[in-house]
Amino acid sequence: MESFKKSCVYQIYPKSFRDSNGDGIGDLKGVMEKLDYLKTLGVDYLWLTPFFLSPQNDNGYDIQDYCSIDPLFGTMEDLDRLIAKAGELGMGLMFDMVFNHTSTSHEWFQKALNGDKKFQDYYFFKEGTPDNPPTNWQSKFGGSVWEYSEEVGKHYLHLFDKTQADLNWENPMVREEIKKVIRFWKEKGIKGFRFDVINLVSKPSAWEDDEEGDGRRFYTDGPRIHEYLREIVVDTGLDADDIITVGEMSSTTIDHCIRYTNPDEKQFKMCFNFHHLKVDYKDGDKWSIMPFDFEKLKKIFHTWQTSMDEENGWNAVFWCNHDQPRAVSRFGDDGMYRKRTAKMLATVIHGMRGTPYIYQGEEIGMTNANFTHISQYRDVESLHYFEILKEQGRKEEEIYRVLRERSRDNSRTPMQWEAEEQAGFTTGTPWIGVNENCEKINVRESLADPDSVFFYYQKLIQLRKHYSVISEGSYEPVPLKQKGIFAYQRSWKKEKLLVFANFTGKHQEIEGREVLDNWEILLSNDSAPKINGKKFVLDPFGAVMLYSCERA
Ligand code: GLC
Ligand code: CA
Repeated sequence: MESFKKSCVYQIYPKSFRDSNGDGIGDLKGVMEKLDYLKTLGVDYLWLTPFFLSPQNDNGYDIQDYCSIDPLFGTMEDLDRLIAKAGELGMGLMFDMVFNHTSTSHEWFQKALNGDKKFQDYYFFKEGTPDNPPTNWQSKFGGSVWEYSEEVGKHYLHLFDKTQADLNWENPMVREEIKKVIRFWKEKGIKGFRFDVINLVSKPSAWEDDEEGDGRRFYTDGPRIHEYLREIVVDTGLDADDIITVGEMSSTTIDHCIRYTNPDEKQFKMCFNFHHLKVDYKDGDKWSIMPFDFEKLKKIFHTWQTSMDEENGWNAVFWCNHDQPRAVSRFGDDGMYRKRTAKMLATVIHGMRGTPYIYQGEEIGMTNANFTHISQYRDVESLHYFEILKEQGRKEEEIYRVLRERSRDNSRTPMQWEAEEQAGFTTGTPWIGVNENCEKINVRESLADPDSVFFYYQKLIQLRKHYSVISEGSYEPVPLKQKGIFAYQRSWKKEKLLVFANFTGKHQEIEGREVLDNWEILLSNDSAPKINGKKFVLDPFGAVMLYSCERA
């Protein structure tokens, strides 16, 4: 397996990837069927979102048993076969570890409800009367973070849905249980671990109201977080070179992410942050829309890239995942310039310093879902917010507009394999609607077209393996006068890489700092960027990657 700096991770949302038995739900055998496709793309790791036993209130992020497979997705034998086959093809599996909370159906929580004090201590049960919760904090999915339990006569904490109860990491027994789960999967040959909202697990010792915000400042990157992560990682051997780990960091800071990923700290190999994906939140509110702020986007990337570089941290770089709308719809043009936008966005991410992540369907330029009625939505967050926004007095039409842009279901529609009905995802009725544009946007079409988004991604993945300037180089922003151009330079020994990307629908003349005639065009989504001295013109949504190597 390549080092994580040269690797690329592909994210699979099994439920929506490929259904092998016609029940409308994607499954492990479905993933198995598509391994050759993923091998052709050239990715190194397959991150599978949770398929463990779960009531599926949050599509598997509410886990009932960490070490068994939900029958919806298959059996342990299916999984063993998948691990083996992926391994033969040179791809490692990465599992999703959800340790901030368990489902309230988990045995531990059930025992807690039955009065078992040991297990009550696995969670946060706090005093309070039914209508007077311990603090005023707000859940990530809307409403209070506290739910009153009649059985126990106390409130329990849930930062997410009320069926996702937060685990008490202060309790050393909880940390030991977590280590057992990691060891179990590691012994099965799992090569990577993604840790769900992991920077939220260290809760404060005092529980107080938040007069300024929703409470997140008290538990985000909490007091003992670095100590906990190091303990988990070191005790389970996840700091080994052949294991890849990534932490999902919610509302975090650069300083913390440096510590999470600097190798001396023995925490993670890399982490996700989401600051660049909030640049279209009006006043920071996900449920208020505005066009994305390009200057802000650029600044966030530049700052994270350079600061993490300076302190030897490492980013996971990405546009898309199962919680985000589709990037082509969000940051470019998903109509006439869809393919070009998809390639332009890919160039920006895959040229950066960090490990790139591709979310299923991104590699063929899949778009937002375009749902028009609440009955089409499945996500617990969207369903909650539909009600909350109505209560706030917003017009239904406006709420639909917001959901069309912001719902997590935008990325959860089935993978588009074929031009046929149900997109070759299932022979039955899919659990969530297939995008109508599958007729045009699908894998079969992409594989038949040498100029497709798919083959562009394939090329980008290969370039990272081949050029150390891409995998290792330092990062420096390239300031330009023109608006709407994203530009940076990477440098490594005698090699240099320049990336220019046009986020606008207009031709743009670019003037670089140096004469570029002799630079090699490594890749471009543009018909033919014509370089003339320091200048060249980029097409609408055009992007180009230029390379030079000084001769000794
Ligand atoms: C993460 C997951 C998301 C889930 C949440 C709670 O953000 O990516 O899908 O709802 O954690 O587990
Ligand atoms: Ca199925």
